[in-house]
Amino acid sequence: MIRMPKPAIALLSLFSIASAAPLATCPGYRVTNAQSGPSYLVADLTLAGTNCNLYSEDITNLRLTVEYQTDTRLHVLIADREQNVYQIQDNILPRPLSQNASSQTADLRFTYEAYPFSFKVTRVSTGDVLFDTSPSPLIFETQYLRLRTRLPSNPNLYGLGEHSDSFRLATNGYKRTLWNSEAPYIPQNQNLYGSHPVYFEHRGGNGTGGTHGVFLRSAAGMDVVIGKSDAGEQYLEYNTIGGVLDFYFLAGPGPEEVSKQYAQVVGLPAMMPYWSLGFHQCKYGWPDLGHVKQVVQNYSDAGIPLEALWDDIDYMDNKLDFSTDPVRYPHDQLKGFVDELHGKDMRYVQILDPGIRYKSDYGPYTRGAEKDVFLKAADGSWYRGLQWPGEVVWPDWIAPQTKEWWTTEILTFYDPNNGINADGLWVDMNEASNMCADTTCLSSAQKTRSLPQSLIGKIHPRAPGDRHQKTRSLPQSLIGKIHPRAPGDGQHLGLPNRDLFTPKYQIANHYPTLSSRTLFTNITNSDGSTQYDTHNLYALTMSSVSRSALISRSPTKRPFLLTRSTFSGSSRFAAHWFGDNFSSWADYRASIRQLLSFSAIHNYPMVGSDVCGFNGQAQENMCARWAVLGAWQPFYRNHADISAPDQEFYRWPSVAAAARKAISVRYRLLDYIYTGLYYASKTGEPALAKPLWFLFPSDPATYGIDTQFFLGDALLVSPVVEDDAHSVTFYLPQGKWYDFFTHHRIDQTSAGTVTVSGVGWDQIPVYIRGGSISALRLSDASFTTGQAMTTAEVRTRNFEIIIAPDQNGKARGRLYLDDGESLDSSGKESEIEFTWDGSKFEAKGTFGYDTEGVVVQRIVLLDDGVSGNGQREVSGRWPLTGGFTTNLYI
Ligand code: GLC
Repeated sequence: MIRMPKPAIALLSLFSIASAAPLATCPGYRVTNAQSGPSYLVADLTLAGTNCNLYSEDITNLRLTVEYQTDTRLHVLIADREQNVYQIQDNILPRPLSQNASSQTADLRFTYEAYPFSFKVTRVSTGDVLFDTSPSPLIFETQYLRLRTRLPSNPNLYGLGEHSDSFRLATNGYKRTLWNSEAPYIPQNQNLYGSHPVYFEHRGGNGTGGTHGVFLRSAAGMDVVIGKSDAGEQYLEYNTIGGVLDFYFLAGPGPEEVSKQYAQVVGLPAMMPYWSLGFHQCKYGWPDLGHVKQVVQNYSDAGIPLEALWDDIDYMDNKLDFSTDPVRYPHDQLKGFVDELHGKDMRYVQILDPGIRYKSDYGPYTRGAEKDVFLKAADGSWYRGLQWPGEVVWPDWIAPQTKEWWTTEILTFYDPNNGINADGLWVDMNEASNMCADTTCLSSAQKTRSLPQSLIGKIHPRAPGDRHQKTRSLPQSLIGKIHPRAPGDGQHLGLPNRDLFTPKYQIANHYPTLSSRTLFTNITNSDGSTQYDTHNLYALTMSSVSRSALISRSPTKRPFLLTRSTFSGSSRFAAHWFGDNFSSWADYRASIRQLLSFSAIHNYPMVGSDVCGFNGQAQENMCARWAVLGAWQPFYRNHADISAPDQEFYRWPSVAAAARKAISVRYRLLDYIYTGLYYASKTGEPALAKPLWFLFPSDPATYGIDTQFFLGDALLVSPVVEDDAHSVTFYLPQGKWYDFFTHHRIDQTSAGTVTVSGVGWDQIPVYIRGGSISALRLSDASFTTGQAMTTAEVRTRNFEIIIAPDQNGKARGRLYLDDGESLDSSGKESEIEFTWDGSKFEAKGTFGYDTEGVVVQRIVLLDDGVSGNGQREVSGRWPLTGGFTTNLYI
């Protein structure tokens, strides 16, 4: 129900406000002119006293807009009335359509206090207050916003990535800073490559609190503080350096429902090609093509399936995008190598960086300059910095002509006939990362590598070598030229006249200033917005443009793109890996936490870490364990730094053995994983990696677990997590479980921990959840012969169905099939549902995919109900071209 305005009630602040910001008495806002309809409320908010100007200037006039968008989604927007404050443009992050739900039927209710303004979001079905901003007055300044919500004590909070911290977030004195940043070694308590301003709060199983989500649709740099006030009151507090308060509240009430609701707000993850689930090998520092070929040969000799070979920046000529080193990676030889890989059904992926070498005889630069695609410094010159190739300029991904230019460069260099016929692209350093730490470096780069005279004045409207890029405010002469709008024109492009370098409120960026090691925050984008407001969107826009370029290149094929930096919604365009981790047990463990946060909370199913670690020297035992764990991550790539020793799996016999076995198991499960990806991309459900509490929301013992994960609904993965250990104690919720490898049954009459000892380097405890049915490809069980060496070969194998009954003797599961590569598979896909009712197995659904003779060859019923741990295996040929039923007891 929407509350109509009522006479102002002065709420005395009876509690102290312990905040990331210093104590201050700010006046808050007063509600006037409230108007409401069945599905909305709009009102004016006016500063309710003398300016507080805590870190910048209070904005006096705000507007509150509340929309009941669906019965489970509430939109609350608090923005400046003039509409100048930056808001993420809809073409960058499309907004979900409102279904105009009714405040009478929605499960989330918005209520407010008129003075000082505060609001509550309540779950109607339980009466739980989910969000309550009354603890401190709203502060809405030109460069600082603060909003605090009261929470129950020690809440179960998740998300707010990218980070490497515990999956369930700490609740006292904890700060999450969101400002995309290069971050060698992924330390904890530090901002990393991506920003996802969303959290899920879990208050218990259905009927006892449920799960809800809160997404702040803001790209502003921010600190989100979770703590307790001096009076012991739990809170979560947003401290942003700009933007508006644009909240989507998601009611759940179950965790998977919140995931889906979040995906509806930020967009569904892209479906990935089937081959991208194969095993990938990369290394920064491979000396030449001969070495790369040897790597491929060594994998083959070791009998370890290698699906895709990746080339890092080594292939480039002097690290220039769209070039090949003429001596080490001659173009035609590299092209021939890629064709050879294709001949073996293998794949090839290359890296591209956004920094474009600033050099007059470099085509991608001169063509880009002609089209005016690069970001400009405040003085109107190209903004330059340092990246792998030396002095570079950076594309302005928001400009329409940039898309044209980037697409043309990609189409030319990756021309399937005359170019490098890569199967996918990897976009890196897109936070954006700038190796130029300060202006001194920038200036010296300019001095030594100035533009040729012929180009001066054409693409560079000022003399080279000047030192004025770091101009805080625009010179009068440029106002209206590169910032083509007047204040107050309501385009959400950002307030003028701000300190874009050193706002007084300093977020806890791990580099000293906002602009350190990245693009200067005073850069104006082509649409008039500034990097101050759009920094966190740089990689999102690069991924969007790159994906669309790949689609132009092969219009019917599903693109494969990997990005380092992300923002909410990036999964629409690209897979993600967790960046430059360390070859350590600590980062092996961190990879599970990161997997859970991305996959379950951040709507990002296709993720994984650099297996065996990127920095430092991988140790044999750790690498063996990681090779095995990595096989259970959706994205599975071994990659290491130039300074790290080679760490391909075949380099140690024990790692090779572990990898062979792990990949063999993974390839049997490839369609199970692919099915998960499909449903994640279709509905937003976290159909791949997820925490135990998603499936056991009423069991508090699961809420903090981040060393185990479910892969899909059927498989619980509980790896050894201690350094050099051979045993693991893990949590097994109540129910029936079956060892994935031995099919041995465990009846967990009550939940508790289980210890497994003697876990070899090539082993990982995985349990099948009773109640599930999974479809696996058949392969030779000895893991020595008959192994499918490529995913193309996997697709020729028949299926076996594993039925794992629950306590009631029943089970269900699903399988998705298509050709694995079409961008649009409609009409040519199969969505098959399996059920087991205790005596009858049934497959039904839609059957549009022609399996080309692949059938179900074996059905295995675990725990046949007759012989304890016994199982019943039935062989036959059940085509997957239509539904079928079979009674396994006859
Ligand atoms: C960055 C990437 C890393 C890559 C390197 C060289 O550090 O994170 O994966 O190998 O750049 O391109």
